[in-house]
Amino acid sequence: MADNHRQPEVNIGLVGHVDHGKTTLVRALSGEWTDQHSEEMKRGISIRLGYADATLRRCPDCDEPECYTVAEQCPEHGTETEILRTVSFVDAPGHETLMATMLSGASLMDGAVLVVSANEPVPQPQTEEHLMALDIIGIDNIVIAQNKVDLVDADEARENYEQIKEFVEGTVAEDAPIVPVSAEQEINVDLVIDALEREIPTPDRDPDADPRMYVARSFDINRPGTTWDGLLGGVLGGSLVQGELDVDDEIELRPGREVDEGGQTEWRSVSTDVRSLQAGGESVDTVSPGGLLGVGTGLDPSLTKGDALAGQVAGPPGSLPPTWDSFEMDVELLERLVGAEEGDEIEDISTGEPLMLTVGTATTVGSVTSARDGECEVALKRPVCAPAGAKIAINRRVGARWRLIGVGTLTE
Ligand code: GTP
Repeated sequence: MADNHRQPEVNIGLVGHVDHGKTTLVRALSGEWTDQHSEEMKRGISIRLGYADATLRRCPDCDEPECYTVAEQCPEHGTETEILRTVSFVDAPGHETLMATMLSGASLMDGAVLVVSANEPVPQPQTEEHLMALDIIGIDNIVIAQNKVDLVDADEARENYEQIKEFVEGTVAEDAPIVPVSAEQEINVDLVIDALEREIPTPDRDPDADPRMYVARSFDINRPGTTWDGLLGGVLGGSLVQGELDVDDEIELRPGREVDEGGQTEWRSVSTDVRSLQAGGESVDTVSPGGLLGVGTGLDPSLTKGDALAGQVAGPPGSLPPTWDSFEMDVELLERLVGAEEGDEIEDISTGEPLMLTVGTATTVGSVTSARDGECEVALKRPVCAPAGAKIAINRRVGARWRLIGVGTLTE
């Protein structure tokens, strides 16, 4: 039914520790596995950021909260259910090395479901790390899904609930509802939908704002050996954060591409036009924020191949924020490494050290050129396009991996 393919109007992140059931919960809510999109563009995106759309519905003949469902027909009354809205779930990977992906996904999230397993002590490392990331990005519309309740008895469930309560105290999730659920057995899915409807409203959008897209992936969708007259232009995957984008719009991408002129290299924005748009699983003429977006462009596919444009920002020419080769940021460091035992205090940032910075959907390595109390200046390996005031997740290499150590605010 066409109604099932309505464009999603809000992005909801699924975060939490590995194997706590994020993907299973998305499947229960959408009937789709985020891990298994067939279409090339979608599949490519879901490798790093799984998206699945779900149309939330309500049966006019059932009481609350049993009325909430994703079924088109009420199993109880046989009545056709009413559409509430279509939402897009961003299923962020839970593996610890993918924290940067989680953070870049978070920049596209309007709210989040924190999935916590009822049969493990709270918090597990990524439960804590992801909650910290939500705090940093400032996502405070949160629902906590206490998952796998089918594996514990009532006392264990209650004890786990108390642990969750204690863990979120003083954080951005302090007042978030905790919904006991079994994603696998599809128990209490109605309560989750009820909580999503209450806690994660669709944000007010300004339809007159200039469209702005955060590019998360980019592709060359042509098969090898395609002749020049059959070549399709480069494809961008990502999400719109403001405004409306239409087919035939002119767009500019920043930072663009690196050009070499007489031994000097510099980054120049690239311009193109929108040839086609895909959203909510179908071709459309116009898109607004919410969900995943595929943009067919007039760009040479060699420019978009292999995510070459991931992390860039697109919008009408002249409307985009500045591109930075280096910037200053105000820095707030965490007290200790997330998930670490006592004693892993975070030391001040020092001049010369490399940092991995996530800004919007862009991840770049920077070298600290000066560091003072609460401020530092970094020279970037790859420039980023971002407005002053943008939030930056700061990661330092500790042992074999990058660890989140704090948050920066781009000043100039
Ligand atoms: P990553 O994407 O790897 O971070 O994992 P995830 O959080 O998406 O977990 P996933 O949904 O893949 O579930 C992990 C395992 O837990 C799978 O074997 C699921 O079948 C199982 N599982 C998920 N939800 C439930 C539940 O409610 N009850 C039970 N018993 N098992 C569940």
